[in-house]
Amino acid sequence: MARHPIAVTSRANPGALDVAQAAAVAERWRVPLLARPGRGGLAALLAVAETLLVVERSGVCLQDGEGSARWSTGLAALRLRALDAGGQGEALVRVAGLLPGERVLDCTLGLAQDARVAARLVGPTGQLVGVEISLPLAMLAAEGLRREPEDPRSAPLAIHHADARTYLAGLARGSFDVVLFDPMFSRESRAQPSFALLRRLASAAPLDASTLAEARRVARRLVVVKARRHGAELRALGLLPERASRSAPVVWARAAPLED
Ligand SMILES: C[S@@+](CC[C@H](N)C(=O)[O-])C[C@H]1O[C@@H](n2cnc3c(N)ncnc32)[C@H](O)[C@@H]1O
Repeated sequence: MARHPIAVTSRANPGALDVAQAAAVAERWRVPLLARPGRGGLAALLAVAETLLVVERSGVCLQDGEGSARWSTGLAALRLRALDAGGQGEALVRVAGLLPGERVLDCTLGLAQDARVAARLVGPTGQLVGVEISLPLAMLAAEGLRREPEDPRSAPLAIHHADARTYLAGLARGSFDVVLFDPMFSRESRAQPSFALLRRLASAAPLDASTLAEARRVARRLVVVKARRHGAELRALGLLPERASRSAPVVWARAAPLED
């Protein structure tokens, strides 16, 4: 029998509240809820589902046959601290020039690190929408964020499980001020442990010219694209990288909105 692509389960030795919380997550995403077996091991459940979202008291984590990743603020926390300290190095300031009140669409949400930084930069009067094609990753980000205290300095982050290409096609011209892309790199070199799981679950499709054109239609001010420093991705899209420090492994490029 084919395994479910993803299912939800609770912490080990759950109480009634733990089961109810896991059931609410399963219901929200319309995926199966699997009862955690008596001894608590996940191996039996991974015979039924390829990936599990485990709802624990302290947060959520994704588990597959090869490993796990717990939801965390990751590098976003460091970037936010640097912003709070008045640092000038943040790429979303330098390249995207995000301003309070702006509407931002992140078409490659992943672990929502760029989105969280963008949400702070546009502030509580701004709007942040993140789109993620991988259901497990969309669930991890949405359920992880749901369990964190609200940050009154940031825009709320709305997360959609969708293909950004379809999502963009349904939007009117100029619906967002800025559209972001951070596609998976063909040779991913990011060192965070959660990236191993992200690599397994994420879509590795590169950004293509027609999706970029759709984003330029939807963006009122700018489209920004992150890429590997020495990769061919930007050139293939006719984009030029913005200046970056010599040691930066990634570069960003800007694309203007499509003219009427
Ligand atoms: C490099 S990760 C993004 C990391 C993210 N910027 C962050 O800060 O955590 C790229 C993500 O984009 C997603 N993705 C790729 N193609 C997509 C598409 N067409 N629509 C939505 N998400 C997509 C992948 O599944 C992956 O999770």
